[in-house]
Amino acid sequence: MIEQIFAHRGASAGFPEHTRAAYLQALADGADGVEGDLHLTADGALVLIHDDTLDRTSNGSGPVGAHTLEELCGLDFTSWKGARIPPEYGRVGEQLLTLDGLLDILAGAGREMALALEFKYGELFDPALVDAALEALGARGWSAARSMAGKVQVSFMSFHPEAVKYLSGHVPAAMLCQLLQYAETGAGRELLANGEALLDDGAAHLAGPGVAYLRANPGNAARWLAAGRTLRVWTVDTAEDLQLCLDAGVAEVTTNRPAAIRAMLGRAPSAGGRRPA
Ligand code: G3P
Ligand code: CA
Repeated sequence: MIEQIFAHRGASAGFPEHTRAAYLQALADGADGVEGDLHLTADGALVLIHDDTLDRTSNGSGPVGAHTLEELCGLDFTSWKGARIPPEYGRVGEQLLTLDGLLDILAGAGREMALALEFKYGELFDPALVDAALEALGARGWSAARSMAGKVQVSFMSFHPEAVKYLSGHVPAAMLCQLLQYAETGAGRELLANGEALLDDGAAHLAGPGVAYLRANPGNAARWLAAGRTLRVWTVDTAEDLQLCLDAGVAEVTTNRPAAIRAMLGRAPSAGGRRPA
């Protein structure tokens, strides 16, 4: 049974990913939680951006980490998507979010929300990003015991096994997700083997395969389920992929289309939800 629907980078099918608009739409769509990717700016601010660089999702360019928060706030993170932002979802200059800004949005949901924070790395793990996030969460009352920041339940995710190992010293295993991306060979395959071992060892209790991984490795998913792990699968946008998840005993799905997945599951449309134009 699907227990939680996470909006992947917000409701990012209709609105530019990781923006205020995408997250406000996720709340309106009735998502149980939201997912987001963290990067550090040059001056140590935590911002929600997927790529290492600005080029794909803004009118800026170069590494995120080479710019200050003030510089990033001057960029347009919306126009690349071509979607109109309704005025109630904020001005263009208000669309980039910090971790604090996202927590404020979730705190205003009027219900308990889940937040799945992903720590993005290239090949090398550096604890600075995790440390900064834990400090920011701590300032909002988060503690490892309950992993709640107010009414927001926070879980932690990474593809990088070194990051997951480091996180396991600071957050409960039940709130720690080893992400798994299908790979047959090369550095990706090595990373994957290390991540699979962490799930087998119980360092992380949330197994986070992509749809392609789940399809190719049903035995691993079944083994983790039998060992009491929870499956959280990304990115589940179609009826076919949702059925794959249901058949595999997946409890949590991450989707760009939370309202559509709700409808496919027969959940009533969210009260007060508005659809993207
Ligand atoms: O939720 C996990 C998923 O977000 C991982 O992939 O590339 O979209 O960050 P990516
Ligand atoms: Ca992500």
